[in-house]
Amino acid sequence: MVRTSTFVLALATASTTLAQSCNIGSRCPESVPCCSQYGQCGVGAYCLGGCDPRSSFSLNSCTPAPVCQSQTYTFENLDSIAPNTKYLGDATKADWVSSGNPVSYNGDVLLTMAPGTVGTLLASTHYMWYGNVKATFKTSRGQGVVTAFILLSDVKDEIDYEFVGADLEVAQSNFYNQGTPDYNNEINITLSDTFQNYHTYEIEWTPDYIKWSVDGQVGRTKMRSDTWNATGNQWDFPQTPARVQLSLWPAGLASNGQGTVNWAGGLVDWNSPDIKNNGYYYASFTSVTVDCFNATSAPGTNTGVSYTYDGYSGTNLTVVDGNNATVLGSFLATGLDMNLGASSGTASGASPSSTAQSIPGVSGGSPAQINSHGDSGSSGSSGSSSGSSTATGFVQGTTGTSKSGADKLGVGQEKGIKGSVFAGIVAVAAMMAIW
Ligand SMILES: *[C@@H]1O[C@H](CO)[C@@H](O)[C@H](O)[C@H]1NC(C)=O
Ligand SMILES: *[C@@H]1O[C@H](CO)[C@@H](O)[C@H](O)[C@H]1NC(C)=O
Ligand SMILES: *[C@@H]1O[C@H](CO)[C@@H](O)[C@H](O)[C@H]1NC(C)=O
Ligand SMILES: *[C@@H]1O[C@H](CO)[C@@H](O)[C@H](O)[C@H]1NC(C)=O
Ligand SMILES: *[C@@H]1O[C@H](CO)[C@@H](O)[C@H](O)[C@H]1NC(C)=O
Repeated sequence: MVRTSTFVLALATASTTLAQSCNIGSRCPESVPCCSQYGQCGVGAYCLGGCDPRSSFSLNSCTPAPVCQSQTYTFENLDSIAPNTKYLGDATKADWVSSGNPVSYNGDVLLTMAPGTVGTLLASTHYMWYGNVKATFKTSRGQGVVTAFILLSDVKDEIDYEFVGADLEVAQSNFYNQGTPDYNNEINITLSDTFQNYHTYEIEWTPDYIKWSVDGQVGRTKMRSDTWNATGNQWDFPQTPARVQLSLWPAGLASNGQGTVNWAGGLVDWNSPDIKNNGYYYASFTSVTVDCFNATSAPGTNTGVSYTYDGYSGTNLTVVDGNNATVLGSFLATGLDMNLGASSGTASGASPSSTAQSIPGVSGGSPAQINSHGDSGSSGSSGSSSGSSTATGFVQGTTGTSKSGADKLGVGQEKGIKGSVFAGIVAVAAMMAIW
């Protein structure tokens, strides 16, 4: 249940076309066939990680997803991180795709959140179809500031650790099945101060159970056998290939639903000591280890090159571990024509118009979105209801460099600029960089 981004409004201000929204009942048209993680139609990066095949023009509109690879990732430098303005699906060249502003510091990667931004997100380039993943990190702090370590699939199965900066002695564990809001799945794991101390958070995910462990101690176990949904005639249990996502995001914005703000412990204080001393909130990630599931037959294999879907139910039975390529030729390409716009390739099929959106923004990969945390109203309310929120002012990752827009303009200067104005500046710069 990833939060609908506020970037859309910002981008729309500067571009002549509005990104079209999409969902299962309203799929994208052929010209902009890919439904992004945030529910907007586009091409290029919209077709990469997070693209929901069920809400896209067709099941093969999204780019096939790189299969699981067992590996330990460290962050001595940012070399393994590609900004989402550069990454085209080659998981052999980048381990993580970023939006926002990751910063290298003392062997860690800091996910930063400066005033006027919606934080930073790192998403793994490889997917996991069950398996173990653990991450060692220190969270951010402060009311309204949320740190997250989650698994999120393209059909929005999700397994979470979330940390609300107002309570540093709790790790919230949670899971969702295909993005369905369910208020009863959250369970707290208590531990020592998550801002001061590194902890290792692990998710052990098999077809039969999920275990959340902190520093080697099991804090929670969820059995699939306890999740049967007789109405839907399926297990409400995460079962599709997911990306690892590390994020820092502002749940405490006035433009977010009241339930979300309350859950996050109140509004973000943009004059806090962390902001005054560093210019941003931050969470420090040291390492992530992925240990793929060793199934010899589906579900849970990683014997091919990529995962795709061959059905709309979004269950494990519709996942194909096959050999389709994963790399797009350019930001004009889609799963329907993966070589479109490649320097050596020839264009064919339906060309996207030159105004098609090609790089989705992000709000920080929040696991808590639509109707979650007691919000009422429909999806997207956080982004569209307020044009003057601070978050509106940030178009993450669209500036064409690994620096955030805020960084480029200078965070200090940006503080005084109203969000919407700032958004326009960054968005125009972004559009010029792309087109
Ligand atoms: C996989 O590749 C085949 C052959 O090119 C193609 O027909 C099919 O649409 C692709 N499937 C997906 C889901 O991309
Ligand atoms: C988890 O802890 C938070 C405070 O950190 C609290 O607001 C919430 O109600 C707790 N959830 C459960 C299920 O106990
Ligand atoms: C895969 O999906 C089918 C159909 O919903 C279900 O019977 C089966 O238990 C699922 N397996 C897992 C591991 O979730
Ligand atoms: C059970 O499945 C139905 C139909 O898919 C769905 O509408 C409902 O939200 C599910 N229940 C829960 C608790 O997820
Ligand atoms: C998969 O097999 C390898 C080699 O035997 C093992 O090291 C690893 O822990 C296994 N992974 C899981 C998730 O069980």
